[in-house]
Amino acid sequence: MITIKTSSKKTFDHKAHGYVVLVEEDFSFSKELKQIEKEYIPNLQLIMEQREFTGKPQQNLVLPATVQDHVVDVMFVGLGKKDKKKLDMETYRRVLGKVVKLAECYKCESISFELPAASSFGVTAEQLAQHTGTILNMASYHFADFITDKKRKERELQEVTVCVESKAKKTTEKAIQAGECIAHAVNNARHWIDLPPSDLTPPHLADKAKAIAKKHGLKITVFNEKQVNAMGMGGLAGVSRGSHLDCRLVIMEYKAKKKSAPTVAFVGKGITFDTGGLSLKPANYMEEMKDDMSGAAAVIAAMGALGELKPNINVICVTALAENMPRWTATKPGDILRFYNGKTAEVRNTDAEGRLVLGDALSYTVKHYKPDAMIDVATLTGACAYSLGPFYTGLLSQHDDIAEKVQRAAERAGEKVWRLPLDNDYKPAIRSSVADMANTGSKKYMAGTITAAFFLQNFVGDTPWVHLDIAGSAFNVPDLPYVKDGATGASVRLLVDLAMNW
Ligand code: BES
Ligand code: ZN
Ligand code: ZN
Repeated sequence: MITIKTSSKKTFDHKAHGYVVLVEEDFSFSKELKQIEKEYIPNLQLIMEQREFTGKPQQNLVLPATVQDHVVDVMFVGLGKKDKKKLDMETYRRVLGKVVKLAECYKCESISFELPAASSFGVTAEQLAQHTGTILNMASYHFADFITDKKRKERELQEVTVCVESKAKKTTEKAIQAGECIAHAVNNARHWIDLPPSDLTPPHLADKAKAIAKKHGLKITVFNEKQVNAMGMGGLAGVSRGSHLDCRLVIMEYKAKKKSAPTVAFVGKGITFDTGGLSLKPANYMEEMKDDMSGAAAVIAAMGALGELKPNINVICVTALAENMPRWTATKPGDILRFYNGKTAEVRNTDAEGRLVLGDALSYTVKHYKPDAMIDVATLTGACAYSLGPFYTGLLSQHDDIAEKVQRAAERAGEKVWRLPLDNDYKPAIRSSVADMANTGSKKYMAGTITAAFFLQNFVGDTPWVHLDIAGSAFNVPDLPYVKDGATGASVRLLVDLAMNW
């Protein structure tokens, strides 16, 4: 974990192991750079020219210097060009990720840098500071619980000093803190996802949710498998009965001050390991299936941040946690399950288990909370990962206003979502001759992500609803400097932003 300090002194007036200077592409050798050349790095302009450092996005030039009798590293990092008079926020976030990587690589335990002007990015000073707090913390996340070789652990960045004008210090500090709070939620989700599947089981994840609820003053209810069965949740119980582990249904509640505040529900898929069940996955498809609880992790972690940031709406979070395993008691292809809302589904493929546990979680949410809007988050379909790849979360909805709200939240929060058509033409794909629906789409309709969403639609009634498929975006996203291999925490930032700006 890093500490971020805010200061009204200049970058080089702090004692630090590294100094970061952010520069726009094709910069002119400014007064500030001349000063650095004069005091610390002779011939800086010439060096920059010879090394062809022009300030392209993430381009960097690291030079040693002596500052206040200490040998330090000065890191020049490019912010790219303005487009339509604006610098790009995603480039800024990636630059911050790069800065953390450089600090680790050059073994700088402390760095200091000047916050760029928010107006050049077309955002408010608070937004820029908040993103700074979030990304510095996200980029510093390591999953090193099981690495015993101390030499393999990079020397971690401990302290970042962010320099701002003295009149902006208070507001910057507050915005950075909000950003850090969001990052802690993102990193919590990532940690739970990264844990080995035998260490993070449904009961364990329910315990994590309890700890979050206790820490942030949220109400929590946890049902075990016996209670789930007694309530008639045949979807969740039907998936869980292949495992020796007990399933859980976890409900968390955040209440706004105002009585008349609207209620928004977040629902998450929490399969702590997905073998596919009796429709067993091939080995190479199973490798990453500890990430199949990423939706649940995201919504639980987001609740923690909301407990601190206190939005003006009520937020309910419901997660269905189970392990999908193939033992003799497991649900078989051909079995018919009955859900909490009374509907039935023919199980054609036990690997399409996410929609089965979500069916009960969604029906429970609708029945008990009648939310004004509902967003579910799930690593639901391989088809989504194939069609959008790792960079985009799939968004499906028939409610344009809520869908657009989610799209705007994603844009502000720095996440990418892509809307796929939830067109009624695809609806017949899940017809079954023996039950109300089948859990896989008929081959003729293809579009597995869309047909899966139509399965979920059976459980939302007329609640305005958005489905987010994070199968591609939850894990192992390449080339993003602020996330490493492993869990990304996809949709946590989006959900927090959505609740804060409803
Ligand atoms: N958990 C998987 C989806 C998944 C795939 C998530 C890749 C992350 C990465 C889900 O339970 C699943 O197996 N879905 C099947 C559905 C099919 C049997 C209709 C799929 O997508 O192949
Ligand atoms: Zn599956
Ligand atoms: Zn799954």
